[in-house]
Amino acid sequence: MTSDASKLDSSAVNSENSGSMADQPAMAIRVADRLERLPPYMFGRINAILYQKRSEGIDMVDMGMGNPSDPPQPEVIAKLAEAASDKANHGYSQANGIASLRREVANKYKRKYGVTLDPESEILSCIGSKEGFSHMCLALLGPGDTAIIPAPYFPIHMYGVILASGNVVSLDVADPDKFLSNVAYTCENLSPRPKALIINYPHNPSSATIDPSFFIEVVRLARKYDLMVIHDFAYADVAFDGYQPPSFLAAPGASKVGVEFTTMSKGYNMAGWRVGFCAGNPDMIRALATIKGYYDYGMFQAVQLAAIVALKETEAAVEAQSAIYQGRRDVLVAGLRQLGWEVPTPKAGMFAWAQVPEPWRSAMSTIDFAMMLLEDGNVVVSPGSGFGPAGEGYLRLALVESEERLQQAVRQIGDCLKRNPVTK
Ligand SMILES: Cc1ncc(COP(=O)(O)O)c(C=O)c1O
Repeated sequence: MTSDASKLDSSAVNSENSGSMADQPAMAIRVADRLERLPPYMFGRINAILYQKRSEGIDMVDMGMGNPSDPPQPEVIAKLAEAASDKANHGYSQANGIASLRREVANKYKRKYGVTLDPESEILSCIGSKEGFSHMCLALLGPGDTAIIPAPYFPIHMYGVILASGNVVSLDVADPDKFLSNVAYTCENLSPRPKALIINYPHNPSSATIDPSFFIEVVRLARKYDLMVIHDFAYADVAFDGYQPPSFLAAPGASKVGVEFTTMSKGYNMAGWRVGFCAGNPDMIRALATIKGYYDYGMFQAVQLAAIVALKETEAAVEAQSAIYQGRRDVLVAGLRQLGWEVPTPKAGMFAWAQVPEPWRSAMSTIDFAMMLLEDGNVVVSPGSGFGPAGEGYLRLALVESEERLQQAVRQIGDCLKRNPVTK
């Protein structure tokens, strides 16, 4: 076969490729049904305008994404550079993360939350927590399965389930007690019962927080209704005024019913590095490891070695970073309140969650309001409706600009609203 093929006249092949075949109309690409279940990406429109304005040289204050703008610590970067220069680190690494990194995660859980974890069976590294979360959905859920998710929702909490062909019931997170009683109500009344409970506190986008007793009740409900729990603890390290976000795994019996995802994206300013962890129930961890074993080969080893340095040596910097976010929170919340906006003071996370002020709230959709701030105010915010219908009427503002720039944002917002009064 190969010897026959090698005798082919290559000019004939080339002329065929460059001739009639290339002139054929494009074949219709028939994507999978699961792709059709995804709505158009709302932030795509915002990002396109942001890009256009920036390329025209316009200074935009960008509070759109929770993408940290400060760098990781120098010793972490130095370790990455050193490890990247070592030829031993360039092959495939361990898919679950190297043992020394998983041990460091166990040490942090012990130090910070008093939780004992076995690095072998109860901890797994992911390529960012979003990757781990999505694949966990694929490992646990399928057609006919239902997951309870927060409302409003961080998009992957909804679409991780949808992409796994599961169904969702979304429950309002603003009042944690009500959230729990709604979980119980849903389990009592939905048939078949939900299989998984997805929670996320400190919550993105609303910044709602809880105290440790919340998770004790979660474990009780999980036991009673046979619910697997996935807690997305992305904002574990960003908290203010002495508030300590509780770990789900610190609740007695938590690792019998669920797992918790953490990340180095937020507190450690390592969002682009893609380092996250899943910890807790060994059977759920094994299920995730099985899926990941097929899909990926784990993280670049040099990144894992640098992440160890970050976990071991930069705790003080993580706290200092929280203090920076707290200062920004104070400036932004005070400024918006001076404009007459209703904004609760977040106790944790990287966002202010503000109601669109009247009369604009009644006069236009949240996306139109956000587009007005973008186009006429040169300020980027996320419209709450990007986080589902429960977010309509709200804006999410990320604390990723400096205090001075946030003051500038408030001025620009105020001026923009003066230029755009609601006329009946
Ligand atoms: C609630 C929540 N979970 C997960 C993530 C993604 O984190 P990672 O960078 O670890 O994938 C984010 C990032 O914005 C988030 O807000």
